[in-house]
Amino acid sequence: MKGLILSGGKGTRLRPLTFTSAKQLVPVANKPVLFYGIETLAAAGIREIGIVVGDTRAEIEAAVRDGSQWGVTVTYIAQDAPRGLAHAVLIAEPFIGNDPFVMYLGDNLLAKGIVPFVEEFAATRPAAQILLTPVPHPEQYGVAETDGDRVVRLVEKPKLPRSNLALVGVYMFGPAIFDSVRRIRPSFRNELEITDAIQDLIDRGLEVRRHVVDGWWKDTGRLEDMLEANRLILDTLTPRIDGAVDGESRIEGKVVVEPGAVISGSVVRGPVIIGHDAQIRDAYIGPFTAIMRDVEINGSEIEHSIVMEGSRITGLTDRVTDSLIGRGVTIVRRSGKPAALRFMLGDRSEVGLR
Ligand code: G1P
Repeated sequence: MKGLILSGGKGTRLRPLTFTSAKQLVPVANKPVLFYGIETLAAAGIREIGIVVGDTRAEIEAAVRDGSQWGVTVTYIAQDAPRGLAHAVLIAEPFIGNDPFVMYLGDNLLAKGIVPFVEEFAATRPAAQILLTPVPHPEQYGVAETDGDRVVRLVEKPKLPRSNLALVGVYMFGPAIFDSVRRIRPSFRNELEITDAIQDLIDRGLEVRRHVVDGWWKDTGRLEDMLEANRLILDTLTPRIDGAVDGESRIEGKVVVEPGAVISGSVVRGPVIIGHDAQIRDAYIGPFTAIMRDVEINGSEIEHSIVMEGSRITGLTDRVTDSLIGRGVTIVRRSGKPAALRFMLGDRSEVGLR
């Protein structure tokens, strides 16, 4: 069995971060989202993984390299433009050959992994096996109508959904999928939809099985989803203090402090992760916060947020919350006149003031 991870896409809903960084590399609990997907496939016994990449190929390759850190081999497959999930399958055919495979969307996270699903798929070998989960807004996803374990109909982003079961971004396929992706036409959004290709399998009378996943599933395409994924993963961490915490500081609840981090005169209330060489001084770090390496937080309070490498937050009088702060960002309180707010923000930045 092979693995295929889709890691193209523009990540428009996470701008401005995705102007300079692939959305699959935005960190959840200090680890790129994409790495969770690779771990999930490796845990299911998959050793050969193809990663479909687009404009952000160089950055993804620099992070993942040959895959040996997970005991897998990685082959990069270039997609010239985001032409849809089924298009990604089409261009991956030379890599997949006749093997069954698991396709995993690189910005998806699944609480419980996929081991039992992959085992069942390997034992029963239907043309496809999909994972479903009930969602409050099914019209934003591919939606399935089912009859017991069988899938009857699939529609991509239906205006009037016939069920609340959304397609999770993890699919298992046998080789029949390649004929189906060749038979379908581009959708309303001008993409070759994998949802339509699976419907084509059904139309050809082939077996498509389904599972409703237990445990949470997150597609991390938007800020709120990133923060929620961060929350869910932080909650699963095993506490560990490898950095230096002085006597004036208090660490409460589930907290990971990586080597080289220094915490002084501060309160850190977990679940929280503090990355390598971060400096936390006279600060409050509240629940569900991930602070990455080389970040400096000084005389400020922050909670329910993600702060990426090398950023600096100093002397703020208001608490920062619900925020995703990119790399090398500076947020500083300055004295002197005029007493005003000063910004240098990239395109499509978002600032919320009290
Ligand atoms: C894609 C699929 C959709 C699926 C979703 C899961 O949507 O087309 O069927 O439910 O991933 O994350 P997209 O992220 O392209 O809008």
